[in-house]
Amino acid sequence: MPRLFVFDAYGTLFDVHAAVIPLRGEIGAQTDRLSELWRQKQLEYSWVRALMGRYVDFWAITEAALDYAAARCGGLDPTTRQKLLTAYETLTPYPDARPTLARLKREGCATAILSNATEAMVRGAVSAAGLGPVLDAVLSVDPLRTFKTDPRGYALVEKQFGTPPADVTFVSSNRWDIAGAAAFGFGTVWLNRGGMPDEYHDLPPTRIVASLDALFDPEP
Ligand code: LAC
Repeated sequence: MPRLFVFDAYGTLFDVHAAVIPLRGEIGAQTDRLSELWRQKQLEYSWVRALMGRYVDFWAITEAALDYAAARCGGLDPTTRQKLLTAYETLTPYPDARPTLARLKREGCATAILSNATEAMVRGAVSAAGLGPVLDAVLSVDPLRTFKTDPRGYALVEKQFGTPPADVTFVSSNRWDIAGAAAFGFGTVWLNRGGMPDEYHDLPPTRIVASLDALFDPEP
């Protein structure tokens, strides 16, 4: 069975903060704060809704999070709001995303995405980034009407590939996602692009890397 690498989507393969870059002139001085709050609230809403069992999909959550962030940052005109949401549908991949997936495929590995996003969201981003040919599967947790770190989300991987959790390498930039994947039993690689301090110390990553191409470095 080929080695299986499963990637989180937003923040790991796609740059969630890329949506605001071309609109900095329209958004103004609080552009970076808006983008940070947008992501923070998107994640918060996913955890709260999964915990209380009142599911709405990740796209609705993404819209609600943007509206909250806009209210905190002086408001957005409807045109700019729509441009931001349209940009989110085709988020820019990080430069190391495609080369890493392509090399994994050349080396005979299986590759997949496991994302909270709806299937339409994540397939749109994959298609726009041209990542389809280097992915064996795109898995959305949405049909389960819950979000990661619900273990049922991670269980989709074995359902798709038949690979036992201990033989899966799960890669995410989100430390909370790494904690959930580690709790589920995956091997985990925390993609700590920004040099953030570690947390969830009872659920450590198998490896920590600063970029995706470090996946190919000899393991220490
Ligand atoms: C995802 C978000 C949580 O792609 O990063 O699932």
